[in-house]
Amino acid sequence: MDVLIVDDAESVASRGFAFTRRCLDQKSDAVLGLATGGTPLALYALLVAAYDRGELTFDKVRSFNLDEYLGLSPDHPQSYSAYMQRELFGRIDIQSRNAQLPVCEDPEDVDEVCFDYEKQIIGAGGIDLQILGLGENGHIGFNEPASSLASRTRLKTLARGTLEANARFFHAGETQPVTAITMGIQTILDAREIVLMASGANKAAAVAGMIEGPVSAFCPASALQLHPSVTAIVDQDAASQLKLKGFYEWIALQNDRLGRSV
Ligand code: F6R
Repeated sequence: MDVLIVDDAESVASRGFAFTRRCLDQKSDAVLGLATGGTPLALYALLVAAYDRGELTFDKVRSFNLDEYLGLSPDHPQSYSAYMQRELFGRIDIQSRNAQLPVCEDPEDVDEVCFDYEKQIIGAGGIDLQILGLGENGHIGFNEPASSLASRTRLKTLARGTLEANARFFHAGETQPVTAITMGIQTILDAREIVLMASGANKAAAVAGMIEGPVSAFCPASALQLHPSVTAIVDQDAASQLKLKGFYEWIALQNDRLGRSV
């Protein structure tokens, strides 16, 4: 795993943007895997700004989001579909039929939606670049601790800590769903390249578990150690519990010197 330690959340987003732009420059019909939550907001703002400047087009891009709450319609303001529309899709030229989330309004349809989502990803040729955030408990997508490392898209119950962390996105009195459809860990590992972004001291333990811990379902993000092309972009606070922090900074310095940095 490549570990890039940068100053702050803003720099995490700008490095994440550089990886995304490189992917789109290399392949105009790239397939992106996208995340929601607080972390990718600054990245999406940078993508929108680049689109506004005429530097990027998403006309041929396809995207698959990691997850969506069960039972929320796409126009519910707290659905991840609405989030993506607000923050990215509605502000760039991606074709709406090419921007997918695992939407399931009727619990009876869960199995079909999950099966179909996997089929659609394969049909699109697989994900070229998967963008990930990181939960405080080490989750990626909504693969909470004890998720199978071989899992595929399915319904998951969110951990109490995840619900508490995400309660900030819901207004008082609004029902917060406790289940979501999420890509599985194996679905994520099937992506050709993965960029995980994390900032803040509240992510430090999860970052350490992901990079230096054993590969274990206890910290789902540790499964990324099994992937040959992962870059973890973390800020100083999120990197604060890494034992080999100086080593990762040394490698990044050498890569900069060799002109191998993105
Ligand atoms: C969101 C997702 C989650 C978040 C994670 C971190 O689609 O899959 O894994 O990336 O919960 O959330 P933030 O960025 O809000 O800290």
